[in-house]
Amino acid sequence: MQGFSDLKRIGDEKVTAIGMGTWGIGGYESPDYSMDGESVEVLRYGLKLGMNLIDTAEFYGAGHSEELVGEAIKDFEREELFIISKVWPTHFGYEKAKKAARASAKRLGTYIDLYLLHWPGDSWEKIEETLHALEELVDEGLIRYIGVSNFDLELLKRSQEAMRKYEIVANEVKYSLRDRWPETTGLLDYMKREKMSLIAYTPLEKGTLARNPCLAEIGKKYGKTAAQVTLNYLIWGENVIAIPKAGSRGHLEENLGAMGWRLSEEDREKARGCV
Ligand SMILES: NC(=O)c1ccc[n+]([C@@H]2O[C@H](COP(=O)([O-])OP(=O)(O)OC[C@H]3O[C@@H](n4cnc5c(N)ncnc54)[C@H](OP(=O)(O)O)[C@@H]3O)[C@@H](O)[C@H]2O)c1
Repeated sequence: MQGFSDLKRIGDEKVTAIGMGTWGIGGYESPDYSMDGESVEVLRYGLKLGMNLIDTAEFYGAGHSEELVGEAIKDFEREELFIISKVWPTHFGYEKAKKAARASAKRLGTYIDLYLLHWPGDSWEKIEETLHALEELVDEGLIRYIGVSNFDLELLKRSQEAMRKYEIVANEVKYSLRDRWPETTGLLDYMKREKMSLIAYTPLEKGTLARNPCLAEIGKKYGKTAAQVTLNYLIWGENVIAIPKAGSRGHLEENLGAMGWRLSEEDREKARGCV
């Protein structure tokens, strides 16, 4: 496996600054088996190139995404990989969350490195119960770290306070050049101070930022594309990891090229003006 020096930290683990998203891999809200071969091949290709982080969820393809991730990783050294999955709010609660995590681990064929509450849902009590159930799953060795997703600053702080034994190590949120709310609400700075990882989802705004001519222009002097500029903007933050979803080898390779260099401050400012 080829290594990358552009590494970030989640908990005590090192992960590549660019990871692999899987929304749509194996289906969206229901399973889709039509592209299984290609999907597994692209994920394996990313792992072979040295990416070590895959983001999935029980919700993706109603579990089929996790099955494909399990298939893709089985010939790789498990300890070198970092697998994220998530519990959907309908499975919040002490027993339900434990059951959901066990089902996810079964589909993946392995333990889960980081297990996230996918969305806040509508009840604080359920969030709290779920966090406590997850702490027990860490003790059982089924999951290694606990995190949240789509939590704003207030809810994140409240969740941190609710923890009894372990820390919340990450919050996965939408963050792109077009949607910089983690910067403007203080979430990003707070998480940096707390040494929490911010995992940026939909970083390419579904591919549209990859077609932005203004970003492409900025990339010219670095020999980089618009997609690489926009991803680099995000991973400039020392605690930020971006997880674009790539459905082809070409897109995967391009996204990897966002690592190992940094935009200047001046060009970051220009990039903000492009969107
Ligand atoms: N926690 C949450 O609530 C949450 C919510 C949404 C997403 N996520 C996670 O974040 C991941 C990424 O977000 P996303 O899938 O919503 O959006 P995204 O990564 O911003 O965009 C994915 C789209 O961009 C295209 N693309 C990828 N690389 C490209 C490139 N180099 N040039 C041009 N187009 C490119 C892909 O096309 P191809 O498929 O043709 O390559 C796909 O259509 C998800 O897959 C999921 O794992 C989490």
